[in-house]
Amino acid sequence: MTITIKKSNKVGKLDNVVFLSNDKMQGLNQLLEPKELDFVSKSFKSAGQRHFTINQYNRFIFIGIVKNDDENYKTVEKYRDYGWSVLKEINQHQLDSITLFDGIKDANKTIAFIEGLVLSNYQFLKYFTNGSDKQNSLKEIRVISNLVSEQQIEELKCTSEGVYHARDLVNEPVSFLDSVKLSEEIIKLGKESGFNVEVFNKKKIESLKMGGILAVNQGSPTPPTFSILEWKPQKPLNKKPLILVGKGVVYDTGGLSLKPTPNSMDMMKSDMGGAATVVGTLYAIAKAKIPQHVIGLIPSTDNRPGQNAYAPGDVITMYGGTSVEVLNTDAEGRMLLADALTYAQKYSPCLTINLATLTGSAVRAIGQRAIVGMGNSESNLNLLETSGYNVFERIAKMPFWDDYAQEMKSKIADLKNLGGPYAGQITAGKFLEHFTRDNDGKSVYPWIHLDIAGPAFIPSDDTYRTSGGTGYGVRLLVDFIKNLTQ
Ligand code: BES
Ligand code: ZN
Ligand code: ZN
Repeated sequence: MTITIKKSNKVGKLDNVVFLSNDKMQGLNQLLEPKELDFVSKSFKSAGQRHFTINQYNRFIFIGIVKNDDENYKTVEKYRDYGWSVLKEINQHQLDSITLFDGIKDANKTIAFIEGLVLSNYQFLKYFTNGSDKQNSLKEIRVISNLVSEQQIEELKCTSEGVYHARDLVNEPVSFLDSVKLSEEIIKLGKESGFNVEVFNKKKIESLKMGGILAVNQGSPTPPTFSILEWKPQKPLNKKPLILVGKGVVYDTGGLSLKPTPNSMDMMKSDMGGAATVVGTLYAIAKAKIPQHVIGLIPSTDNRPGQNAYAPGDVITMYGGTSVEVLNTDAEGRMLLADALTYAQKYSPCLTINLATLTGSAVRAIGQRAIVGMGNSESNLNLLETSGYNVFERIAKMPFWDDYAQEMKSKIADLKNLGGPYAGQITAGKFLEHFTRDNDGKSVYPWIHLDIAGPAFIPSDDTYRTSGGTGYGVRLLVDFIKNLTQ
């Protein structure tokens, strides 16, 4: 990450300053000329203006008087958004450092402001000939606050780096990031942050008979990979590991059931968004040395209509023996995830969470501002929902009634990979659920499925969620893992 964040205890005369204040405007007199102070308090009182940019010619002073909302999580999000709007000005004026003066005395909110600033500063410039010319100017944030701790700053850095890496992975096109390259990048990031990686190659995947992954891979010139990431601290607080499974489809053409218009295909380099979130999360928690045992499973391939591509009508034997009739090769994510969910059973995890850009139905249901969640563990889903509000990566809980599974029954095999025309996000979940159960239909582990198809990749900036890959889910999972008590 290009920004340095450190604590400081004094404001230099030429420092650019961001002043976070409350309605009482405490401390402002230390920095502003009486005339400026007068202007700020008059504008605040008469016009309700809350954001000020004062150009003192040798430095800038940004003042943010953020209003408390009716709920704390909304107020905290306003601080992130204010971080984004200040960053825009910082770049406009080409400032390379700022001193943040915390006048609000609420560490969470001050941290949220820094988070908004840092996440907004993300850029993906690799493919420009002169990318460095376009680089944002901000290099350093000095934080003056009695309440914000070094540890909070450190954790913020680790999480933001995790988000940056997840965004990078999503933004990389398949011409660079194929399934093999993805596993190599994972190894690199593991070395950098401290998690272990083992990669199964095609031979190993064949020997395990992971039929779902192999079927999707049939039309591809590149072999599949199955990456296992592990962060095991010395004294983990959880006895059984938490498992995170990420869909790693590095490109989804739909296969022989080719996607209908070219328009819906160009963003399909983002179909490994679930994998990117898992990698970003492992990176963040390993770097911050969070004392929880976490394992990531990432099955990866592209989905193409090559010569040997799997075809609608095929019956595939999955890892573990379930037979699946393929009715649409574009419903490939569930094929891969099924094998990984079965594989997860061998760890007897305290909980398995899978993340996937799985269905267009999820996007149609709730748009790009939130993700949909379902599973067999109400209590864990509730905890995730709370984390979702903490970090403003919200989860809409879906009904998950048993009879929705009927749509996934095949006339000639145990399951089919396509449900009816409605509620595709739920029937996809029901397909996955099958692989979290033993042969008698009993759940093997608590399990949550998160469909991140909506917000994983966005066409234009949504404040600090920059356009392209957003890394959605990293902050959610890191918050959840920090609070995990199993
Ligand atoms: N990767 C897509 C889902 C998707 C759609 C992700 C839009 C991001 C944005 C997935 O593999 C897919 O094609 N799903 C099909 C399933 C259908 C054939 C049952 C879909 O949702 O249309
Ligand atoms: Zn698809
Ligand atoms: Zn897909």
